[in-house]
Amino acid sequence: MKLSDEMTTALNDHITLELAASQFYLSAAGWCEVSGYDGGAAYLYAQADEERAHMLKIIKFMNSLGVRAAIPAVPQPDVNPESLENLLSMSLANEQSVTASINNTLSLAYKLPEYSVIDLLEWFATEQVHEETKFEAILQKFDTIGRDGLAVAEIDKILASSTGGE
Ligand SMILES: [Fe+2]
Ligand SMILES: [Fe+2]
Repeated sequence: MKLSDEMTTALNDHITLELAASQFYLSAAGWCEVSGYDGGAAYLYAQADEERAHMLKIIKFMNSLGVRAAIPAVPQPDVNPESLENLLSMSLANEQSVTASINNTLSLAYKLPEYSVIDLLEWFATEQVHEETKFEAILQKFDTIGRDGLAVAEIDKILASSTGGE
């Protein structure tokens, strides 16, 4: 079974976003690692792997339909946050842009219609709810625990204990 050109382009574009997200988190993890946030580093390295798995999910889906996915090149990420909180805000914004792409692609699938991709895209839509909630919950901890050194160290510990439990 083939995909329409329009859907092929949309899925290829989304593959690019997942790869860019993976590279963003890899860079973000590196920032944490050199800034003394070991929990944040572990959390974001795992997040980078998760985004790569998302990319692979779409690549394999397309290839299984006989439409070879395009493997993108993405620009070098430029991740220079002012703080751990700022980095996590950037992460949430990143997730929000991925959500917008999934929602647009899902709308396109209904409009065309292209039913073969709906299951896949609904899985991603649900996953994005989870992704945004995850970062919103961490960001909320800066309000509840605080922003001084000890509070941020505590939040870093929470990130360490959240790794792998997603
Ligand atoms: Fe993703
Ligand atoms: Fe994500």
